[in-house]
Amino acid sequence: MRSLLFLFIFINWCTSSAAPFWGKTGHRTIGAIAEKHLCKKTAKKIAKLLNNKSLAYVSIHSDEIKSDPKYNKYFPWHYVNFPPNANYDEHPVNKKGDIVQGIKTCILNIRDANVSKNDKAFFIKLLVHLVGDLHQPLHVGNAHDKGGNSIKLQWFYDDSNLHRVWDSEMIDYYKMSYSELSNNTAQLSKTKINEIKSGRLLDWVYESKKLATEVYDSAKPGQNLTYKYMYHQFPLVQQQLQKGGIRLAHMLTEIFKKKSDWTTAFLNKL
Ligand code: ADE
Ligand code: ZN
Ligand code: ZN
Repeated sequence: MRSLLFLFIFINWCTSSAAPFWGKTGHRTIGAIAEKHLCKKTAKKIAKLLNNKSLAYVSIHSDEIKSDPKYNKYFPWHYVNFPPNANYDEHPVNKKGDIVQGIKTCILNIRDANVSKNDKAFFIKLLVHLVGDLHQPLHVGNAHDKGGNSIKLQWFYDDSNLHRVWDSEMIDYYKMSYSELSNNTAQLSKTKINEIKSGRLLDWVYESKKLATEVYDSAKPGQNLTYKYMYHQFPLVQQQLQKGGIRLAHMLTEIFKKKSDWTTAFLNKL
């Protein structure tokens, strides 16, 4: 009986502890949206490297490998923290890596002719994942609260934290599959899509940082968030999933071109 009780407490602890990434549905939605924006030629090259697995399928690989200590060094690559109103470069870079350095490393490896097929596949999976994480505002958060992970509050009367609300609680509450979410995005004009694609990595980092400030202001520690929060904040979640998908497709399209001025410029000036 006692051991059963301990097992119950342990399982409960495992499932309630902070999972610091968009949940599975968020990542898969971004992968599925990206696929809709890829041309056939690029999609074929990617499919070959991924053994025909979809971007939605591979999008959570980088979280799954967190259970293997061999991959511990990738953990800090999922986010970047620096103070609001500061510039990324003004702040000492995390020597263990961050999402900016992580995305750059992925691009360099995918484009390197000397990298094996297996390793290229690994870096595509990682890129799909990290571009997704970049669009969760709290992955560009404050170090002192671990991107909102230590801001404890409640989600519909259950213990949670601000980071988790943005990673997964709102998306899970919506009860749509990743395919349903990816098939029900906002209708955007060509001009708007081009506007979303424009800019470089650091522009997207600062965009998330600005949104993170709004997210921090949206809830107080200890608050119980329910319908009203969902009503006001979920449109931003949907917008970020769509932006993430569009930008991921754009990056992959450029990365897979033999000669891409965009990629060169992108890497030279992040
Ligand atoms: N895990 C996910 N996002 C994080 C962040 N911004 N800071 C610390 N840990 C995190
Ligand atoms: Zn992640
Ligand atoms: Zn997260």
